[in-house]
Amino acid sequence: MNDAGFGNNTSKRIKINQRRYLGSKTKLLKFIEEILDEEKADCKVFADIFGGTGVVAHHFYDRADVIVNDILQSSYQSYIAYFGKARIRQSFLDKKIEEYNTLGSEKITENYFSINFSNTYFDRENSLKIGAIREDIETQYKNGNINDRERAYLITSLIYALDRIANTVGHYDAYRKVDIPKRALVLQPLDIKSSKSKSTIYNQDANELVRHIKSDIVYIDPPYNSRQYSDAYHLLENIAEWKKEPVHGVAKKIDRTHLKSKYSLKTAGEAFSDLIDKIDAKYILVSYNDMGKSGDARSQSRITDHEIISALERRGNVKIYEKLFKQFTTGKSSKDDLKERVFFCRIGKKIQKKSVSIPKSKNEDTREFVKSPLNYTGGKHKLLPQISRFIPDDIDTFYDVFCGGANVGINAKSKSIVCIDKDKNVIDLHNLISSTNFDKLHQDILAIIDRFGLSHSYLEGYEVYGAESSKGLGSFNKDKYLLLREEYSNTKQSTEKTTLLLVLIMYAFNNQIRFNSKGDFNLPVGKRDYNGSSRRNLAAFNKAAKEKSIKFVVGDFKDMKKTNLNKGDFVYLDPPYLLGLASYNESGGWDEVQEKELYSVLDNLNERGIRFALSNVTEHKGQSNDILKHWVKRGGYNLNKLDYHYKNSNYQSKAKHNSSVEVLVTNY
Ligand SMILES: C[S@@+](CC[C@H](N)C(=O)[O-])C[C@H]1O[C@@H](n2cnc3c(N)ncnc32)[C@H](O)[C@@H]1O
Repeated sequence: MNDAGFGNNTSKRIKINQRRYLGSKTKLLKFIEEILDEEKADCKVFADIFGGTGVVAHHFYDRADVIVNDILQSSYQSYIAYFGKARIRQSFLDKKIEEYNTLGSEKITENYFSINFSNTYFDRENSLKIGAIREDIETQYKNGNINDRERAYLITSLIYALDRIANTVGHYDAYRKVDIPKRALVLQPLDIKSSKSKSTIYNQDANELVRHIKSDIVYIDPPYNSRQYSDAYHLLENIAEWKKEPVHGVAKKIDRTHLKSKYSLKTAGEAFSDLIDKIDAKYILVSYNDMGKSGDARSQSRITDHEIISALERRGNVKIYEKLFKQFTTGKSSKDDLKERVFFCRIGKKIQKKSVSIPKSKNEDTREFVKSPLNYTGGKHKLLPQISRFIPDDIDTFYDVFCGGANVGINAKSKSIVCIDKDKNVIDLHNLISSTNFDKLHQDILAIIDRFGLSHSYLEGYEVYGAESSKGLGSFNKDKYLLLREEYSNTKQSTEKTTLLLVLIMYAFNNQIRFNSKGDFNLPVGKRDYNGSSRRNLAAFNKAAKEKSIKFVVGDFKDMKKTNLNKGDFVYLDPPYLLGLASYNESGGWDEVQEKELYSVLDNLNERGIRFALSNVTEHKGQSNDILKHWVKRGGYNLNKLDYHYKNSNYQSKAKHNSSVEVLVTNY
């Protein structure tokens, strides 16, 4: 059963793919190649960062420089052998292999391997041999008789040989309790493909690695489920490392703490998200099978499709390729025909999915806009492609007055940006989000979620919380949310308080920010939690703020009269609308008096030669803002109508019903 068909023919060389390995992609190579062809992806450097056997990197080695990595030492040794550039003496190695194959076990003394493994995965005779051969390789190396690559070559040859005769079903979680059939241990020379391409070999955690490599293509093939590769292949690690450590349990495992993969833990989604964010490449390819609820618990996927797609979509456009693929599985849940998927991400500008149906004009701004993590009724994210058509390119400082979530400010292209709001809570939130290191902020949020036992659908999915679609996560979170809200109101002004507020908003009704007249946050629990899109928005906002010169300040629109502005500056304003489009009490009692004060500020800016753009509605539900219309006429300003009809049908019907006319008033 374990015979891979080599027989005893030592002249036959072992190819890199002649090894059984969980999740090996030998049968998927053509498919991967077809995807890259289809995508016309140029590939001068190919990185295989969860390399396993290394077959994927090896496939591209004749046409591209390769980077190949795995956390396992047994894989790493085979990379040194198959991809290394150090000189090897083939005839010397052939002789060594011949010598090993003719070793008579009767002359071999008891050794580390025979003591620990006789009559488990191997019979006594083969255990004695394996121990003696591995010890000899180490002695040859220590004495300077062989170099690193020759050592790796012999170790790899030994690993491939012993793996073929092991008394297992393909991995080392257990051995079969039977009389071990007699099988000869036959080492064979390796079939090493010479290539002019460069190769760089690593043995590290993939998340660490991507922080310091650059490649055209990064291929990601992580473990899919909770089965740790270091558990399945501990014996091969033991041989590769040869630290001769004590072994434990019936399966005789060495200590594998240092080899544990995050990708087999519950936090796999987070590790994946971090990995994708840190990649420096043109294309990312991800192999991943979401087995859903099929199979046994151990075979269920650790990362959801949603997590994969949302992480990749942060970096560029994503396509999913599917193929029926016979997978090597060892457990009971073996599915012959798995649908193997490869996610292809072209890094770069992403095409807006929910595009706004304004007529194409050469001025249309097709950038991907950052979406604020703070949700405001009337937030301008959806209108940004249209608003930005009217924003000049030559702005020194861009002022976003009544900034709220700061959707407009954060997307400004000017040299510097100032976002102003009179609500100190909002400004505190912006300062927290934009000045904290994202990983820290993320961890702080998770700590609060954990402390209050709030839902974490991003990791756990919705079902575990008994979430029904109408109520979402509300029923599950309600009590915990109220405790969080109470703690928030009892906490003194501090960064900690602002972080509590940020979490509160994520779990609050419609993710909004609302304080009552006593200053208490008074929204009830909402349907959602710190999910994929809130993470994405938070991360994108944090990144954009760090890349720009942006300030968030507490202030009143009336201060703009006194603010020292230059001709190159620009003021955008999004005040509460007099025609109550939003019933939000962020309006702070907006009335005609305030409306007129606002016009006076704008007239003042106009007299000083400062450009402004004002968002507003002229009509809403049959009402008309005549004060606005008269002021526009009197001042000779431009009333630019924005199209409020979105492709999203729900939005469209609402817009029709409301029959609002959204405008942008400009003085230029
Ligand atoms: C699905 S297998 C890859 C199979 C490989 N593509 C092949 O065809 O042989 C996943 C590999 O990822 C490795 N791995 C797991 N976690 C890792 C991590 N954090 N960094 C690097 N490698 C990791 C495992 O040791 C395992 O070899």
